[in-house]
Amino acid sequence: MNKRKILVTSALPYANGSIHLGHLVEYVQTDIWVRFQKMQMHEVHYVCADDTHGTPIMLRAEQEGITPQQLIERVWHEHKADFDGFHIEFDNFYTTDSPENQEYCEDIYRQLQAKNLIAERSVEQFYDPVKKMFLPDRYIKGECPNCHSKDQYGDSCETCGTTYSPTDLLNPYSAVSGVKPERRSSKHYFFKLSDLRCRTFLKEWIFESLPSQSGIALEMKPRLQSEAANKMNEWLSSGLTDWDISRDAPYFGFPIPGTAGKKFFYVWLDAPVGYFGSFRNYFKNKRRSQTGIEEFLRPGGKTEMVHFIGKDILYFHALFWPAMLQFSGYRTPTQIYAHGFLTINGQKMSKSRGTFITAASYLKQGLNPEWLRYYYAAKLNDTMEDIDLNFDDFIARVNSDLIGKYINIASRCSGFINKKFDGKLTDAISETNRKWFNQFLFCQLGEGDTFLGRHVSIANFYDRREYGKAIKEIMLAADVANQYVDRMKPWELAKSRENDAELHEVCSVALNMFRILTVYLKPVLPKLAAEAEQFLKVNPLTWRDANSQNRLLADGHQINGYEHLITRVDPNQVEKLIKANQESLQPTTQQSPTTQDVQTMEKDPSTLSQDIKENVKRTTAELATVDDFAKIDLRVAKIIDAEQVEGADKLLKLTLDLGSEQRIVFAGIKSAYSPERLKGRLTVMVANLAPRKMKFGVSDGMVLAAGDGNDGPYLLAPDSGALPGMKVK
Ligand code: MSP
Ligand code: ZN
Repeated sequence: MNKRKILVTSALPYANGSIHLGHLVEYVQTDIWVRFQKMQMHEVHYVCADDTHGTPIMLRAEQEGITPQQLIERVWHEHKADFDGFHIEFDNFYTTDSPENQEYCEDIYRQLQAKNLIAERSVEQFYDPVKKMFLPDRYIKGECPNCHSKDQYGDSCETCGTTYSPTDLLNPYSAVSGVKPERRSSKHYFFKLSDLRCRTFLKEWIFESLPSQSGIALEMKPRLQSEAANKMNEWLSSGLTDWDISRDAPYFGFPIPGTAGKKFFYVWLDAPVGYFGSFRNYFKNKRRSQTGIEEFLRPGGKTEMVHFIGKDILYFHALFWPAMLQFSGYRTPTQIYAHGFLTINGQKMSKSRGTFITAASYLKQGLNPEWLRYYYAAKLNDTMEDIDLNFDDFIARVNSDLIGKYINIASRCSGFINKKFDGKLTDAISETNRKWFNQFLFCQLGEGDTFLGRHVSIANFYDRREYGKAIKEIMLAADVANQYVDRMKPWELAKSRENDAELHEVCSVALNMFRILTVYLKPVLPKLAAEAEQFLKVNPLTWRDANSQNRLLADGHQINGYEHLITRVDPNQVEKLIKANQESLQPTTQQSPTTQDVQTMEKDPSTLSQDIKENVKRTTAELATVDDFAKIDLRVAKIIDAEQVEGADKLLKLTLDLGSEQRIVFAGIKSAYSPERLKGRLTVMVANLAPRKMKFGVSDGMVLAAGDGNDGPYLLAPDSGALPGMKVK
């Protein structure tokens, strides 16, 4: 078979959010494809990276009081742990904030400039005069021009659904500082997509087909799924406009050469180039070179470049990216595979329903990552349709297929081999058993006498990303294996010594079936397969093990004792998972907020003083018992430092001394106190309040102040003599 050389990528996750079950659809889909191709002995390199640049990362780092580099370093480790936990095996997981990436970006930009494909134009945008920065659309808020709801984003209204541009908002304000933004213009750089050369190139490129190199079937493979190509064509026909690839300082990204540090590449320019950056870094550091890097990155080589992405980022990958590459002397993607979005129980993932589930919490709750890999595989196909994770179906499917059908074969037959035959298999096979084995190995094509090796049809499905069909075929084979065991009844045969030879044969054939099922499932279940290999005492399985002529292990092959390989899904675990993610809505969790969270928090930066009001309402409305009161740990605290919080209207950041420890608390008292007045004085704080993550950092407690909304707040103070840390009772 022709050995393919494939560079494979998954989209680069943003470094300002956690990996969740939606992301995992993509990484699991790609990882299965890569593992399958590697089992076919092709040369495959799977690279990815964190997508680290842009305004949200810059602002979030600032809020946390750290540098963007510190932020993306921390998130890299979180993401890496999530991917490892789900057995996503990148050959390199890197960052877009790298020297390699910068070099490629600058080179591509210079090549495009030399081809006269970069234009300079002045653009008018909203500008925040306090933060001294231009504001991306989603950082402008205001009143909806249609329904007059307050605090709507710059692109659409969450209340009435109207879409508009930020200039349509009534009373617009900056979501960063709260001030009224100004209109200002500045020079921007554009990639001239409207240039005839780009349009002509893209028109042809998106509909191009290439001969499939899979060697499995002779066919022409389109670069894009037909639905994707049609969509791109619509965009092309409605007229491509030039693409703004620059952003003004301050920005976290790469400076554009020749702009004296005033302009930066827009994050969506450097993100796909990050595929190359990660690949180059991998070449330099980790890989013994078989094929030169140029053969992968320049046109004309016999290599493939395959991108797996979600349907939401199609036009970046199918229009901007190929055009950029084409006119800067690099190769263009061989194939772009777009998938749909994940829904959970038929609906969009939602925090209030507990279905916005992070990869980390799934693992933390003790659910097996291979259950999810299997379920996704069973649902995935080669289209852009959304896929639904239905938890009842998830439980039923994993339990009936993986445990009921697959593992069951090994657990029912290995005991006899170990007890009666010293753990040794036989390769003797009677005619009846051979018939069963063939029925297991081959599937009938249509009505006639034509048969096809299941390993061929399953391989075909994997290569074409029809994982659902692959799993169906694998389960049909597993059904044959189970029917075989049910019919032969080894437990009956074991009752009389006379049947030993037959018992030996039946169990050996069944375990060989189990071994071949393991080959089929290995791209989806890498860890389980590795454990099965150990149990069977075989070398790491490749696709060859399912298609060699001799599909039985040699006579006398010794296996290990069987230990249970995988447990059933317990419905309680799923319930706990959903509950845990619902609870994560409470302010107690330290979960890193997504961009959306950050924005929601920006709606009301003074949540603390709100809390105080809430508490007062409750105490007057309900009676508290002494026990209730005792739950609240009130302590005397000394304010050792007080600071302004940049961008906050009502908050001051207090450093409190509790005698034995220090705490940071954000208090909504700015309107009544200057920081200088507070330093050194004593007050009272709630010391056992669950820490809450705010826009500006974590607030670890609450100081007590009186007020009625108009008057105050007045900070409480103990009489003289009280010391920091003393309990208030
Ligand atoms: N950073 C960009 C990609 C740059 S690629 C040069 C980005 N990041 S992302 O974190 O938002 O998404 C990463 C990938 O996960 C995308 O392909 C996206 O489509 C996919 N998914 C994110 N949420 C998803 C679901 N809910 N369901 C399925 N895939 C999802 O986009
Ligand atoms: Zn509205």
